[in-house]
Amino acid sequence: MIPISVPLLNDEEKRAVCEVLDSGWLVQGPRVEAFEKAFAVFCDVKHAIATSSGTTALYTAVLAHGIGAGDEVITTPFTFIASANAVLFDRAEPVFVDIDERTYNINPHLIEAAITPRTKAILPVHLFGHPCDMEAIMDIAARHELVVIEDACQAHGATFRGQKAGSFGTGCFSFYPTKNMTTAEGGVVTTNDDELADRARLIRNHGQRRRYFHEIVGYNFRMTEIQGAIGLVQLGKLKQFIAARRRNAQYLTRRLRGVIIPCEAPDCRHVYHQYTIRVADGRDRLADHLRQHGIATGIYYPLPVHKQVAYQQLGYTDHLPVAERASHEVLSLPVHPGLAPKDLDTIVEGVNAGWS
Ligand SMILES: Cc1ncc(COP(=O)(O)O)c(C=O)c1O
Repeated sequence: MIPISVPLLNDEEKRAVCEVLDSGWLVQGPRVEAFEKAFAVFCDVKHAIATSSGTTALYTAVLAHGIGAGDEVITTPFTFIASANAVLFDRAEPVFVDIDERTYNINPHLIEAAITPRTKAILPVHLFGHPCDMEAIMDIAARHELVVIEDACQAHGATFRGQKAGSFGTGCFSFYPTKNMTTAEGGVVTTNDDELADRARLIRNHGQRRRYFHEIVGYNFRMTEIQGAIGLVQLGKLKQFIAARRRNAQYLTRRLRGVIIPCEAPDCRHVYHQYTIRVADGRDRLADHLRQHGIATGIYYPLPVHKQVAYQQLGYTDHLPVAERASHEVLSLPVHPGLAPKDLDTIVEGVNAGWS
């Protein structure tokens, strides 16, 4: 079976992990610090604060901005649930606006109508590795004095007008094994704001600047040295990984027939965390057909966040037709750097063979 994703780890990562085990320093030490510095350089930002996951990076960003009960945060319903949950954890309220038909990202034209006196932030998600329209979003945020928290968990290295995802507002990244680079579990908050970085560092480590002196109520969202060591090696390979994903995506885009292929909007650099096609009729039949031909696929996401039972129980009744339709029509094909040329041909043949 051609897998939908594989973490690409080899002897370099193994050696780095063994060095940590031999060192005896296992949590948030020199390797995490080196990883933070290198990731900040990669994103062209001043600060990167490592966390235990993308979810805790998002929650740290929400808390560091002082967003909590009574506040509203405008976001997309077409994402992994953590984007919205991070807002809910401290009892702020996610407000969903519909997505753009082509990029699957939040539709910036719908944001202003959703702003109320309680709105504190916009939380765009650079879904599948395609950057959001950050010019429009930053402009709305500036005019309404709103914070921008970018969920860049799928978008390491993506750019909008040459600027990196995660460097416009407060960026949040995930290093889960399926992501474009991994630390097993892991995350990072990125920012150019010194004070925000300081608060984020306090939040992720029980509010301590000095050991056992707690300035605020914080959490244990620390990254381990094992994660930091893997992250340093993976970050060194990220440019190659992205180049391979883009090559694979271009190969598929040139050859696939009869399906809607992913778009790369002008001035955007897509990093193809997912290569997501769209099938107006027969998506599930195509997925079955591909499985029978040894090709794994993924549906990201089969149910938008506002339609999840957990959100229905909270009283969400939104009707967001573009996101709801997309959830019935999207299908992600393997695009990862582990694919051999013959795998790409198998995928093309599988899709183009006709399945209805
Ligand atoms: C868009 C998005 N946001 C948030 C997350 C949460 O990241 P993590 O799984 O590292 O907690 C993920 C990844 O799983 C994601 O894809």
